[in-house]
Amino acid sequence: MTRWGGMTADYDEFAADYVAENDASLLNRYYERPAMLELVGDAAGRRILDAGCGSGALSVELRERGALIAGFDASTAMVEIARQRLGADADLRVADLGQPLPYPDAAFDDVVASLVLHYLRDWQAPLAELRRVLRPGGRLILSVNHPFIFPLTVEGATYFPIAEFPMEVSVNGRPVTLHTWHRPLHAMADAFIEAGFRIVTIGEPPVAQDTPKDLIPPDVEGRMRFVSFIFFVLENPAATG
Ligand SMILES: C[S@@+](CC[C@H](N)C(=O)[O-])C[C@H]1O[C@@H](n2cnc3c(N)ncnc32)[C@H](O)[C@@H]1O
Repeated sequence: MTRWGGMTADYDEFAADYVAENDASLLNRYYERPAMLELVGDAAGRRILDAGCGSGALSVELRERGALIAGFDASTAMVEIARQRLGADADLRVADLGQPLPYPDAAFDDVVASLVLHYLRDWQAPLAELRRVLRPGGRLILSVNHPFIFPLTVEGATYFPIAEFPMEVSVNGRPVTLHTWHRPLHAMADAFIEAGFRIVTIGEPPVAQDTPKDLIPPDVEGRMRFVSFIFFVLENPAATG
């Protein structure tokens, strides 16, 4: 088990199961990833950092669209899988989003951060670091647990305080606890603005059109939207004057 700045890189323990789940699941393959790709838009020639890249599934798709990809993750096992997918020459590192990042200032046009920030209690220093590595005018595009999930799924949970949210989930059939933090929407927005970002988009997108019908749960049938993740596009404002 690897410890990073007080958190446990527990994805090391179930990396292979996570990859199998992530590659085929409704939430990752047909919802989160297509939504992120849509928000990135034309990636050709853009220098993109994949923060919390996991097994590199989003990086692979962005590279196919012409992006120049770098990525990091706290889990050695996940980075190893990403390296197998992206090739030995890909710039993939084991690094902790809770610590200073090993990249120079203004190195990237975009940072994508899929489902990683909710593992951190404090967002101030990580957001400052992500902004530091973005060029002026660059974008941070991210997804996290939708803030309604905690009060909707945990009995007695209250919406407004930031709270520890251990999520008991099945990852490829394996029971796993994800050590996340619940954060209400106003606290997310405050953190983005305090870090100096401009909020461009708040997204609650539909699932992809090509989602196999048998993956859609009965209570969602007939609807293309459900509460699961929330998406943001943030801009690192270009210097004025
Ligand atoms: C839900 S997975 C998402 C992986 C990938 N972004 C994707 O969507 O396929 C969360 C990832 O965040 C990583 N992670 C958690 N805390 C982190 C931290 N403090 N620094 C870097 N990565 C972290 C985990 O190791 C894991 O690979």
